[in-house]
Amino acid sequence: IFNQGNAPDRFELIVANAATLGDGSTVTHGIPVVGASFDQGVALAADDATAYVHVLPAETRTDYNVIAERRGRDQDNVVMAGAHLDSVIEGPGINDDGSGSAALLETALSMARMKPHNTLRFAWWAAEEQGLVGSTSYVEKLSQEELDRIALYLNYDMIGSPNYVQMVYDADQSTWEAPVAIPDGSTAIEDLFESYYTKIGVPYDDAEYSGRSDYQAFIEAGIPAGGLFTGAEVIKTEEQEAIWGGTAGEQFDPCYHQACDDIDNLDLQALDVNSDLMAFAMLTYAFSTESVNG
Ligand code: PHE
Ligand code: ZN
Ligand code: ZN
Ligand code: ZN
Repeated sequence: IFNQGNAPDRFELIVANAATLGDGSTVTHGIPVVGASFDQGVALAADDATAYVHVLPAETRTDYNVIAERRGRDQDNVVMAGAHLDSVIEGPGINDDGSGSAALLETALSMARMKPHNTLRFAWWAAEEQGLVGSTSYVEKLSQEELDRIALYLNYDMIGSPNYVQMVYDADQSTWEAPVAIPDGSTAIEDLFESYYTKIGVPYDDAEYSGRSDYQAFIEAGIPAGGLFTGAEVIKTEEQEAIWGGTAGEQFDPCYHQACDDIDNLDLQALDVNSDLMAFAMLTYAFSTESVNG
């Protein structure tokens, strides 16, 4: 199946069980051919007919990352944190990733009240759902000198899932194989997050660096990165229900990438804990990144 993002300009469609709907769109095997127009003179009524379909050119839009920086005494040591501001087209994206975006804004506002030692840089990424477009473009455009100034990157994508488990990106590569090497220093970030959960008595588990969120460009550039995640489309197990409550047999986020990812699609307690932890991590690294960078 092609969509407008990946479709070639022209492709051959062998028609089987074609039908024309009342609105004039055409269905083959029950799949509507959306945004396509058919060459004149091609009869779509018969099985095995060949149609040449022109897919309309992919829509082009300009989108923007929003970057805010709080300069510290040391402008050569930058602590970054990010969340994506866009959602899928299907829904408002409140847990994914309004949760991370809102908590990041609150953290940024509270950091404005003190003078950090290190420089703090907050990123609200564009077009994550289109393939990590904003964060990838941002990192690609940095010079080596600018990359070298970034001590670490913290990612917050989905931190208030309604049927949550508290997860920390797992930098320990002895237990699984990452598609890209996880930069040294990432383990120290994981340890900081985990030590906070331990201190407040909240159980946590590992999340994979699956390459599915905005930390990816940073680890590919060799920058230590970590983050929090409360789960997306994966089904909660009985074991996880015993630890975190919620409902086994249901997705961590039952409204993942759907219209119902609205303001009610949050566990406010998980979001509260993770917002506090986001601020704690930022404040810790505002004063020193030595545990990460040596
Ligand atoms: N980035 C995914 C999305 O926005 C969600 C996700 C986050 C999946 C972190 C895995 C790990 O849909
Ligand atoms: Zn998403
Ligand atoms: Zn997301
Ligand atoms: Zn771990």
